[in-house]
Amino acid sequence: MAPLRDLFVAAAVAAVGNAAQDWDHSLFTNSPPVYPSPNMTGVEASGLSGWEAAMQKAEAFTNNLTLEEKAVMLTGAPGPCVGNIAPIPRVGFKGLCLQDGPLAVRQADYASAFPAGLSAAASWDRDLIHLRGKYIAEEFKGKGSQVFLGPVAGPLGRSGYNGRNWEGFSPDPYLTGVAMEESILGVQSVGVQANAKHWIAYEQETQRNPEEAFDPNAVPYDEQIMSVSSNLDDRTMHELYVWPFANAVRAGVASVMCSYNRINGSYACQNSKTQNGILKGELGFQGYIMSDWMGTHSGVASIEAGLDMNMPGGISFKPTLPGVPTYFGANLTEAVNNGTVPEWRVNDMVRRVMTPYFLLGQDKDFPLVDPSMGEYPSVNEFDKQDGWYDDWNKAKALGEPDVDVRANHSKLIRELGAAGIVLLKNENNTLPLKAPKRIGVFGNAAGDLTTGLYYHDKNYEYGCLPVGGGSGSARLNYVVSPLEAIKEQAKKDGTNVQYILNNTQLTTSGGFLKQIYPQPDVCLVFVKTWASEGEDRTTLHLDWDGDDVVTEVARNCSNTVVITNSGGLNVLPWADNENVTAILAAHLPGNEIGNSILDVLYGNVNPSGKLPYTIAHEVSDYDFANVTREVADPKDTNAWQADFEERLLIDYRYFDYHNLSVAFPFGHGLSYTSFELADLAITPVSNASAAGLPKAVAKAAPGGNPALWDTLYTATATVTNSGDLPGAAVPQLYVRLPAAAGEGTPLRQLRGFEKVPLEKGEQKQVRFELMRRDLSVWDVVAQEWRVPEGEFVVSVGFSSRDFRDEKTFTI
Ligand code: NOJ
Repeated sequence: MAPLRDLFVAAAVAAVGNAAQDWDHSLFTNSPPVYPSPNMTGVEASGLSGWEAAMQKAEAFTNNLTLEEKAVMLTGAPGPCVGNIAPIPRVGFKGLCLQDGPLAVRQADYASAFPAGLSAAASWDRDLIHLRGKYIAEEFKGKGSQVFLGPVAGPLGRSGYNGRNWEGFSPDPYLTGVAMEESILGVQSVGVQANAKHWIAYEQETQRNPEEAFDPNAVPYDEQIMSVSSNLDDRTMHELYVWPFANAVRAGVASVMCSYNRINGSYACQNSKTQNGILKGELGFQGYIMSDWMGTHSGVASIEAGLDMNMPGGISFKPTLPGVPTYFGANLTEAVNNGTVPEWRVNDMVRRVMTPYFLLGQDKDFPLVDPSMGEYPSVNEFDKQDGWYDDWNKAKALGEPDVDVRANHSKLIRELGAAGIVLLKNENNTLPLKAPKRIGVFGNAAGDLTTGLYYHDKNYEYGCLPVGGGSGSARLNYVVSPLEAIKEQAKKDGTNVQYILNNTQLTTSGGFLKQIYPQPDVCLVFVKTWASEGEDRTTLHLDWDGDDVVTEVARNCSNTVVITNSGGLNVLPWADNENVTAILAAHLPGNEIGNSILDVLYGNVNPSGKLPYTIAHEVSDYDFANVTREVADPKDTNAWQADFEERLLIDYRYFDYHNLSVAFPFGHGLSYTSFELADLAITPVSNASAAGLPKAVAKAAPGGNPALWDTLYTATATVTNSGDLPGAAVPQLYVRLPAAAGEGTPLRQLRGFEKVPLEKGEQKQVRFELMRRDLSVWDVVAQEWRVPEGEFVVSVGFSSRDFRDEKTFTI
């Protein structure tokens, strides 16, 4: 073992060996070297076959390229998309168009804005998540984009403050793993490459980039204030942060994007431990690693550490970034020519890029790039001056502008938007509404957007939030606001609708009393929380005095229903107010936001969403992961350090371990009907052995050692709809590992869930498969997964704190 690796292992052992001990920061300042970068082998992924044959085509393609052309294949260039690999007409290659992602073809006109990952996770519905991926990819393909920059498993959601949590799914790695897998299978089923991002431990926006990342000429590199370093132990790395990416690799994901942060001191895109060691080595990843935009900080070092593609490349990327240098491009050819980088490595990089391309049939009949997808107005004068337009035209790589790719996707958007809404409270059966005579609508999140439909990356005061901000946002080609949907419904029902959308008027000048007559039967309060890439949230409360708005309306209205429209979790200090009779967490539902909310309010849809995170009582309950702290010495280039001292204990794992009461637990969500769950039975799979992990096959299969995915036990239970309406239940299975798993192990962890639609009175058997990985811990000394010996407790229920049956087994 190399000395540095010893150090890493020692750190990991020390960190997890005794959860109560102080954090020794000095153990987390080194990321061990893992070289050389593994060549791809073409071994099949269980989610997508044909790698070997595609690799051979990629090999032939690579052999036909000059060194300069190889560099073109690996270096972003100007072009019509957010990331571009330029066409190479000599070999008939039309280039690659990479687009954000992850909830829409972000910049495109005539495209849809789907519910955010957060909403998808809150649906706990594998089928809808799969379909979401498929439809998004159909839109990418229709626009001529080969690479969808999503889905997101990093940030995972260590901290509720993170501005980008909504782009991904849930702080629970199991739920996120399932969502990653279903999304990728859906996306790649229509011949579009998925990109799992951001690898890895990218858990805050604050200081995510070196101070001068976007102007590297301003300050010499070694004087720049570096990106935050995510410092974490090996076990936490595997059991939380790597976990969902393993699902992604197993699904056959084409590419992975390395992140902006450092990991134990070393930049993600040049971290050989995480890229060569974990991703390409342990997980057997067969595709290519691309950098996040401007996340590359070296040439040779990054290439040797496993980076395959540099984005956005350089040359002249955007008018605001003239002459940004590229570490690849001509520097790459020079490095090969002077012998610094071996050509076999470059060949592997190109093979990795081209294998998914051939595998997904992108060499055949792929639609040409819709040039209206660039920064709007596209195909504009700047683009033409820049030169790329002519090159792409000559390569016959551009198609017609303004292609409408939306098909009938609004139906799924509406359905999934509603499925991702969580009914947190419903006293006196306030909901569903039954053609009320008088409705009051309040709050600045009820109406339409007033400041435009694309650059909503500023916290706008008026308007609902269909999506969050930053590169994961979307050009909204239309929006149905909640107020609009309610008015439509009111016309049918003959309902009187009054509204006040100005929060200041409501909270400071008695707006309710002055304006509202007659007194509404029900008051609907729409409040929101903005979240965006590039900035972490500074509070977990609602924006725009949302808490005061709720309290004020509730003071005047004894039947107040609150709808939060938020890009993440909120604490809800008014949740127990007896005039607040119902609460819906509506998350970010996409284009059909108003209709999705309406469907739940009026019972066209029986809510079945469940919280993919925990709502605590107080903001201070989340202090364990507040990422917005200031650093002691802002001039110290290495000042930004995020010590993941909570280790495995994020979200419900933290609250459970410390036996803290919470307001609404992870997995909680009410329905208009009721469910029962009983008869848990656990059966070992006869030919599976829990003892000892069989050594990985010679070619590590995508997703890691294939034996990790063997089912060792099956669990079954009976779920019954005991209420008066049809609805869908989400039975959840949690596992408590034996004491041998070690101190600091979470008390219970989600290891199964199923969404089960049930007619009134209907009963179904639900079945969960417990795979070896589900019962294992990462053994930092053996550097393997290990099933700890002892008693396992399996609980099934309707949230992480609502168990209906329990059984044990011993290994
Ligand atoms: C930076 C973001 O972190 C990444 O998610 C996105 O894909 C790129 N920018 C391109 O917009």
